[in-house]
Amino acid sequence: MTELTDQKQTTLAAIAAATTLDALEEQRVGALGKKGWVSLALKTLGQMSPDERKDAAPAIQAVRAEVADALDARKTALETAALEAQLASETIDLTLPPPAAAKGSIHPVSQVMDELAEIFADLGFAVATGPEIEDDWHNFTALNMDESHPARAMHDTFYFPDKSADGGEMLLRTHTSPVQIRSMKDQGAPIRIIAPGRVYRSDSDATHTPMFHQVEGLVVDRDIHLGHLKWTLETFFKAFFEREDIVLRLRPSYFPFTEPSVEVDVGYSNEGDRRVVGGHGDAEGHDWMELGGSGMVNRRVLEMAGVDPDEYQGFAFGLGIDRIAMLKYGMNDLRAFFDGDPRWLQHYGFSPFDQPTLSGGVGVRP
Ligand code: PHE
Repeated sequence: MTELTDQKQTTLAAIAAATTLDALEEQRVGALGKKGWVSLALKTLGQMSPDERKDAAPAIQAVRAEVADALDARKTALETAALEAQLASETIDLTLPPPAAAKGSIHPVSQVMDELAEIFADLGFAVATGPEIEDDWHNFTALNMDESHPARAMHDTFYFPDKSADGGEMLLRTHTSPVQIRSMKDQGAPIRIIAPGRVYRSDSDATHTPMFHQVEGLVVDRDIHLGHLKWTLETFFKAFFEREDIVLRLRPSYFPFTEPSVEVDVGYSNEGDRRVVGGHGDAEGHDWMELGGSGMVNRRVLEMAGVDPDEYQGFAFGLGIDRIAMLKYGMNDLRAFFDGDPRWLQHYGFSPFDQPTLSGGVGVRP
């Protein structure tokens, strides 16, 4: 029994002195493990006489309990200390200077698309999308350009070598107008959407790139007329350019999918080497710039998209996003839009924190 008391004293001292969970585990195995001295002592009970055992058993059990309690208490103490040390070392130093400002910027085309969506949302338009890889039917036929239509040749279309499942040609959409068809087929009438996105034509110089951006607009409802189109475009351009003296000229034109058709010009003046929108294009020092096409939706197009042209009328427009971005933000070479030069983006790009809003301004330069 004295031997046991000695071992107990030694173990309790070691437990109290343990500074790591590993050291503590070593003590537990040495005492309570299978070959530990407490376990061995318990095994000796089997060889004792019943009388001896009556005294020895509670004594050994008491030692066992004392050692186990000491282990538990020390373990809790060590874990608490470890947690406190971790909490003390993981503080955030709020006095550190902030990291350098983010380098990325929003491309002017993305910025203008956000501005468009914001302004048109306020006029009750939803944003619609369609595929850039389009079929012949949506890009041409349903827009009143059947296979023999001469207007097809004007589009400088990129065709794919493979045909669609039903044998039609597949192509990169040449304009956003197929989204008119898809949206009417999906939603029927009345409808009020804009569809911004990429379009493709095999064409390239300072003012044309093989990929560029358009925004389509479509309103179909009862009793829609050309006056609604003019008001909508004027209201949009005033909000977009943030000035009241915007003068539009609607010039008679031809598109197979609109009748009548008008091209939309805006008056501007030259200030230095920069074109500034506003004023009358026919005035001294002013001129007109073409921004896109528009017109009343051809009744054949309504029919092909499943809308009854005797009940509904509509107007549609397609504007060049890159053009209106250049005009608003003063770039003069379209090709730079797609070069990905970080210096250009640094200069003309927008902060991701400046989301266009009607209340905060739809295009405030940071
Ligand atoms: N889709 C025409 C183009 O790309 C523009 C347009 C759209 C004209 C809608 C009229 C109506 O040239």
